[in-house]
Amino acid sequence: MTLAYLNGEFKPLAEASINVLDRGFTFGDGVYEVIPVFNRTIFRLEEHMRRLENSLQAIFMENPYSIENWVSIFEHLIDSVEHAEQSIYLQVTRGVSVRDHDISLAETPTIFVMSRPIEKKDLSAGIHAITHEDIRWQYCDIKAITLLPSVLLRHKAKQQGAKEAILIRDGFVTEGAASNVFICKNNEIFTPPKNKHVLPGITRDLLLEILDDKKVGCYESVISEQQLWEADELWVTSSTWEVVPVIQLDNKPVGSGEPGPLWHATNQIYQEFKSSYCH
Ligand code: PDD
Repeated sequence: MTLAYLNGEFKPLAEASINVLDRGFTFGDGVYEVIPVFNRTIFRLEEHMRRLENSLQAIFMENPYSIENWVSIFEHLIDSVEHAEQSIYLQVTRGVSVRDHDISLAETPTIFVMSRPIEKKDLSAGIHAITHEDIRWQYCDIKAITLLPSVLLRHKAKQQGAKEAILIRDGFVTEGAASNVFICKNNEIFTPPKNKHVLPGITRDLLLEILDDKKVGCYESVISEQQLWEADELWVTSSTWEVVPVIQLDNKPVGSGEPGPLWHATNQIYQEFKSSYCH
């Protein structure tokens, strides 16, 4: 039985339900986090909690819980799942109010958390991606639950036999529909700088940190559409996918058309970090 946490109670997921006037339901008025659990250890907890804090602040909400409160909820849910590799999903909405845009009408946030086994799909052979105009809003640094553009972008990718859409805004790469983007050129690695059009990905930031520690050249730099097309390697990163090579873009091979040497090296560094963190 999958357990969920909803507004102070643990209950079977199938029995967790909310009021139809919840502003998450009527307006998409809320934020979320996805936090991976490897070997039953919560990975990069502080970083995820900091991003949650920033997302809440950006939508004029206060964090309803202390880190200790959150962790005790997470641990209870993790313990209820058999698998060692899980992903925690948490969502905070502004709560229930009459359907009126005015945020002051909502008094109590709705807090929902669940933990599910990570479906370990082996993506190490590489995935196909499409390019698409970045059709999302101007506050992509907020991890908002309002995800219709990303859902449509993933659907368009799927219709074309691909798994991800690489987004282009004003001629420059921003990120994937649900991932950050890295390219490699002449043995150097680049990822777009953080700004309002890019989610500050925890996996992205971790790669920058651990590659720097290993003296591998990885830089934050704008990536033009032209540079994307001329890349030797292209990767996408996320908490649940980790570091995934993209071997075809719009049906054309990226570089050699196979996962490249820098991906192999970086993935090894990432996996080693993960093992030492979650031993
Ligand atoms: N999404 N950019 C976007 C738009 C994302 O939705 C995600 C992750 C990322 C990668 O961030 P991180 O490394 O912190 O997971 C970048 C999650 C997994 C989701 O929506 O399910």
